[in-house]
Amino acid sequence: MPHLTIDGIATTAPDGATILDAARALSIDVPTLCWYPKLPTVGNCRICLVSVAGNPKLVPACATPVTEGMVVTTESLGAVKNRQGVLSMLLERYPVEEIPAQGYRNEFEQLVRRYQVPTTRSSDLPLRMGDERDGDPIIQHDMSTCILCTRCVRACEDIQVVGVLDVAHRGDHTQIIVGADGNPEHAGCTWCGECVRVCPTGAIHDIIPMAIRAAGGEVVQHSRSKDMPEPDRTVRSVCPYCAVGCQLDLQVRDEKVIHVRSPWIEENTPNQGSTCVKGRFGTDFVQHRDRLQTPLIRRGWTKQDGRWVFDPSLHEEQGWDRRGGPWDLIAQEGKTGKRPPKSNPFNRAPTGMGSLGDPRDRVATPRSWYEPFREATWEEAMELTAQELMRLRDTRGPKSLAVFQSAKCSNEENYLLQRMFRGGIGTNNVDHCTRLCHSSSVSAMQRAMSTSAASGSMREVEHESDVIFILGANTTESHPVFGAAIKRALKRGATLIVCDPRRIELASKAHIHLQALPGTDVAVLNGMLHHILALGLENTDFIARRTHNFDAVRTAVAPYTPERAEHISGVPADSIRRAAELYARGPRSATLWAMGLTQHHTGTDIVTSLLNLLLATGMIGRWGAAMIPIRGQNNVQGASDVGAIPMFYTDYQSVTNPDVRHLFASTWGVPDERIPLEAGLKVTQIVDESSPVKGMYILGENPIISDPEVAHAEHWFRDLEFLAVQDLFLTETARYADVVLPGSSFAEKDGTFVNTERRIQLSKKAVDPPGQARADLDIIIELSNRIGLPTPFRNAAEVMLEIARVTPNWRGVTHERLDGTGGLQYPVNDREHMGTDFLFADAFPTKDGKATFHPVEFLPPAELPDDDFPFLLNTGRQMYHWHTGTMTRRSFALDARESTPIVELNPADAAELGVADGETVQVASRRGSLLISVRLSERVARKQVFIPMHYREAAANLLTNPALDPYAHIPEFKVCAVSVSAVAAPVMGD
Ligand code: SF4
Ligand code: SF4
Ligand code: FES
Repeated sequence: MPHLTIDGIATTAPDGATILDAARALSIDVPTLCWYPKLPTVGNCRICLVSVAGNPKLVPACATPVTEGMVVTTESLGAVKNRQGVLSMLLERYPVEEIPAQGYRNEFEQLVRRYQVPTTRSSDLPLRMGDERDGDPIIQHDMSTCILCTRCVRACEDIQVVGVLDVAHRGDHTQIIVGADGNPEHAGCTWCGECVRVCPTGAIHDIIPMAIRAAGGEVVQHSRSKDMPEPDRTVRSVCPYCAVGCQLDLQVRDEKVIHVRSPWIEENTPNQGSTCVKGRFGTDFVQHRDRLQTPLIRRGWTKQDGRWVFDPSLHEEQGWDRRGGPWDLIAQEGKTGKRPPKSNPFNRAPTGMGSLGDPRDRVATPRSWYEPFREATWEEAMELTAQELMRLRDTRGPKSLAVFQSAKCSNEENYLLQRMFRGGIGTNNVDHCTRLCHSSSVSAMQRAMSTSAASGSMREVEHESDVIFILGANTTESHPVFGAAIKRALKRGATLIVCDPRRIELASKAHIHLQALPGTDVAVLNGMLHHILALGLENTDFIARRTHNFDAVRTAVAPYTPERAEHISGVPADSIRRAAELYARGPRSATLWAMGLTQHHTGTDIVTSLLNLLLATGMIGRWGAAMIPIRGQNNVQGASDVGAIPMFYTDYQSVTNPDVRHLFASTWGVPDERIPLEAGLKVTQIVDESSPVKGMYILGENPIISDPEVAHAEHWFRDLEFLAVQDLFLTETARYADVVLPGSSFAEKDGTFVNTERRIQLSKKAVDPPGQARADLDIIIELSNRIGLPTPFRNAAEVMLEIARVTPNWRGVTHERLDGTGGLQYPVNDREHMGTDFLFADAFPTKDGKATFHPVEFLPPAELPDDDFPFLLNTGRQMYHWHTGTMTRRSFALDARESTPIVELNPADAAELGVADGETVQVASRRGSLLISVRLSERVARKQVFIPMHYREAAANLLTNPALDPYAHIPEFKVCAVSVSAVAAPVMGD
C-alpha cells in the first residue's frame, strides 16, 4: 500500500489506485470530464492533469497509479493553466452565448466558472452536430454542447451493455453518432436514460412531459430537462414498478413531481445510479388527469333511517344491472379496435396546453365509466363501506368477506389491511397478486427448505457468479436494471445459460439457450440432473450433510435421459448435457427464475425440479451461488412477508398455530377466537363459482384484467353483494364497485418496500395526493377503527414498530435506521444487526437445518395444440408496460413508445397465414377471442405466439387457461392452445 502526499496531506492508497482515487478519498476535488465512476478510464480530456514532484510533465490523475513516496499538487500553477487551456479549447465549439451571465447550467460550465475562463466566442469553428433525436418524446440530443468526453458512449456500452452510441469520424469532424443510421430503435436503444445521466453538458437530455413554470414565471410545455429550473426539493423514493427496487430521486417543483433522477452511482443502492425507462420516465401517471380525487359512490345508494340502502331502480332505468354501467365487457372490447380517449369529468385540476402533451390533460378512463357514480364525501364513503363490511360479517359470517391486497402498496399498508381483515372481520381470506406470479415458487421453496425468499443478492450475481442459469425470466425487459447487471457479468466472463421458449435478448447472448417447448421444464431439469449423476458431478458432501431424500430423486430422474428430455422438450440432448456440466461445475452457479417457470398448472413441480438440481449440486449458501426467484412487483415480497397471504401472518408464521394466533390477537387487542385457525381462500379460490365470498375490499389491484379467463372473472365480480375499491384510477375493476376510495401513489406516502433480494427500503413522501384523495394508510386506519378494531397509529413509522415486534426476522427494522440508506436485507435480528446479504451458509431454516428433495415427474401442459387450436400461446410483460397498464398506459413516455397491443408471430407462420407485420389477426382459445395487430418476430418459435398482458382492448387473459397448480393455486398463464387467423377489416370500437 503506497504512501504519498497530496496537497500537503500524507496518506496511503490501495495498490493499483490512481492519484484521482487517492485524492477523492481525501475529499480533494480534482476536476474531471471524461472520467466517471465505474466507467472505463480513457484519459482523453486532460482536465485532471496534476503536478507530481520530480516529474517534468503534468500527469492525468485519473489514469496515473500512485507510487511510493509520490508528492502530488492538484492545483499547481501548471495544472491550473492547463485546465484553463483545455476549457478554452472546448469553449471554441460550445454555444458560449447560452451560458448564463452568472452561474452555470451544468458540470462543464461549472468548471468554466471555477477556473475563470472567459466565455466570449474566440473562434469561428462550427458547433458540433452529431446524430440528433429531434422530436423524440423521451430523450433528445443537442450536440452543439457536446464536448466529446465520450461518457455517454461508455455508459451505454459498459453499464447498459447496449452500445447504441459511438464516436464517429476523426479530427474536427469527430462526433457522437446513434447506431448505424441515426435511428436509436434500430440500434436497440432501451431509453434507459443512462446517457442522459452521465452527460456533463446536457447535450443528451430528457424531455419533461408536463408543463412547468420556468424560472422567469413562463409556463413551458415539454421543456428540456437541461433548461429546467432548480427544483424546490428532491425526495428519495423507491421505484413503483419492478422488484429490483431502484431508488429514485423525485424532483418537486410547485408541489408536483416534475422530474426523476437516479441517486449518485457510488451510493449504496440496488440500482447503483441506473434506472430503466419505466423508473426514470414512467412516473408521470402520478399527475395524470384520470387520478381519482374524490370518493365515488354508486348511484342508488341512499341513506334511509340512518342506514345505507341500495335502490336498483336508477340502474334499471338506464338498462344497467345492479353493478353495471355503460361500457363494453372486456370480452366485447377484445373484438374491437382501440377506443379514443375521453375526458374525466371529476377532475378539476388546472390543465396544461396541448392535446396529448401534458399528463394532466390526457385521459385514458372513458367518460362513460363515471356515469354510474356520484361524488361523495369521505364520511359517506367510509360510513357505507364500514356498514357493509360489518353487515356481511355479522349476517353472512366472516368467510363471506375477502380482501385483495396490493403488491404495489407499502409493507405498513399491507400489514394494517390484513390486520383489519383478520382482527376486525375475523377471516383469513387475505391474498394478493403473489398468487398469480410466484406462489408456486413459495410452495416449492417452503416444502424443500422452509423459505419464501431469495437466498442471495443481485450484486453477487453481477460480480461473483461463474455460471448464471436463468429460466423463464425476460430480465432485460421485465427487470432491466438487473438485466444490465447480468450482461455486465457476461462481459466479465461469467457463463450464461438461458432456458426460455422465446429467443429473448439474454437468450441471444447466452452460451447455451435451452429453447424448451412451453411447460416442459421438468423434463429438461430432470434430464440435466440425470446427466450430472451419470458423470458423478453431484455434490455428495452437500447432499449428505445438508439434505434428505436424495435417493428418491435419483430414482425419479433415472428415466430422464437427455434424449428422452429432448423428445419431450425439443431441446437437443447435447445442449442439455453441456448445460448440466457447466452448471454443476460452477464452481459458483447462480439460479434465477421468474414467471416463465411458475405460471403453470405444474408450477410447484417445475420449481421443485429446479431446486432438486440446485441442491444436488450444492449451488446455494455460498457468495456467488445465489438462488433468486426474481419477484415481479415492487413489493410483492414485502406484502407476502407482512402477512397478505391466506395461510401466514408476518414472517410466514402459520395461521393454524394457536400460539402464533395468540401473539397476533393479543397484539391487536382482540380475542383469539375472532381469528380462524384455518387458512383462508386464495385469489383463485375467491374468484370462483363455489366461493362463499359475497363482499370484497380491493386495494390497488385490477383482477378483471389480471385474473385468468377474465370473461369469467368479470362476471363473478358483478355478482358480489358489496365491492369497495381503493385505487388511483377508475380501473376496469373499480368501475364495478359500490364505493371507490381515492388513494395515494408511491410519491405521496412514506413507507417501506422489499425488493427481490429481501432488501427493505424506505420511500419518502414527495407531494400530497391530489384533491381529496388520501394517504392509503390513513384510509385503512380509519376504516379499521370504524369496524371496531383499535388502530391507534399516526404514521407508517409507528406501524413498523408493531411489525418489528411480531416479525422475528424484522426485529431490528425501524424507519430511522432505513432513512437515507440503501436499506437492510432481512433477517435483521436486532437494532444493531446490519442485515444479511446471503443465507443458508450453514443450515436451512428447517427443524433439523436440512433441506428435502422431492421427486417430480413431467406432466404436460393442461391444454395442448390440436387441429382447431394449433398454436401455443405464451403471455408476459413488455419493456414499456406494467401488468394491467393502469400506471404505464398513463405515462407520456411509455405510452408513446408502445401504445397498442400486439401479438408476436414467427414470420414463417405469418407467411403461411398470409398476414404481414401490422395487420390484424384473430387469436382464439377455447375461452375467448380477440383482435390484435401482428408483430413479426423471430423471438417466438414456429407455432408459438406471445401476447403481452397489459392491454384492456386485447386482454391476453380472455384466452388463458384457468387450470390451477394443486399446491399454490397459480393459473397456467404461460401456455394454452390458440388459433390464429387473418381478419379482413377489423371493426373499430366507438
Ligand atoms: S438511453 Fe440507454 S440504451 Fe439508449 S443510448 Fe442512452 S444509454 Fe444507450
Ligand atoms: S429496473 Fe425495476 S425498479 Fe428499476 S427502474 Fe426499472 S422498473 Fe423500476
Ligand atoms: S478526466 Fe482525466 S483525462 Fe479526462
